[in-house]
Amino acid sequence: MFSKKVVVSSLLAALVGISTLAYANVKFVKTTDNSEIKFPKEALEGTDAEKEFLATGKNIYVGDAEAIKMGKKRYNLWSCTQCHGPTAKGQVGPGLTGPKYNYAKDTTNKGMFETIWAGTNGGMGGKGFGIMAADDGVTVDELLKIIAFVRSNSKDLTGNEGL
Ligand code: HEC
Repeated sequence: MFSKKVVVSSLLAALVGISTLAYANVKFVKTTDNSEIKFPKEALEGTDAEKEFLATGKNIYVGDAEAIKMGKKRYNLWSCTQCHGPTAKGQVGPGLTGPKYNYAKDTTNKGMFETIWAGTNGGMGGKGFGIMAADDGVTVDELLKIIAFVRSNSKDLTGNEGL
């Protein structure tokens, strides 16, 4: 009857509302060619930081001492140190502390993530899982920690500005 229909349709509306929210993900694109980045399942660990980042582009590890410590270890492990220096001020590769970047979008954590995940056309290979080799690379969560370490060397820039 009438009332039942109303109940059903408002229930449906509520469901659609919820699912829209849950899937309101940010689109990630490669710095090399702007094509969409698709994350293999091995790249995903399901941490809160990963979920927040994929939904909003915000890196909640920035300013988190424990995450920065882990990020620093990964920064060394993946040889970022050799090219960008131990405190990301630059060596063979450019400095990563900003505020000026070769790729302007690197001022945001989403942009810097895209640059490191899939690499650049100007001399840096991507480090994301599956980019160098099908079974190797950083996970989303690890890269967020690496970026948190990079940002910890910046004066004012957190990369989460406006989020
Ligand atoms: C073999 C040397 C090398 C290694 C290792 C390396 N990079 Fe790079 N990186 C470069 C070079 C060279 C560039 C400049 C590329 C360009 O302008 O296209 C660059 C560019 C970047 C940029 C963009 C900077 C800008 O100005 O927009 C970021 C961010 C970055 N690297 C982060 C990292 C991180 C984090 C790691 C470790 C996971 C890493 N890189 C490992 C050489 C390296």
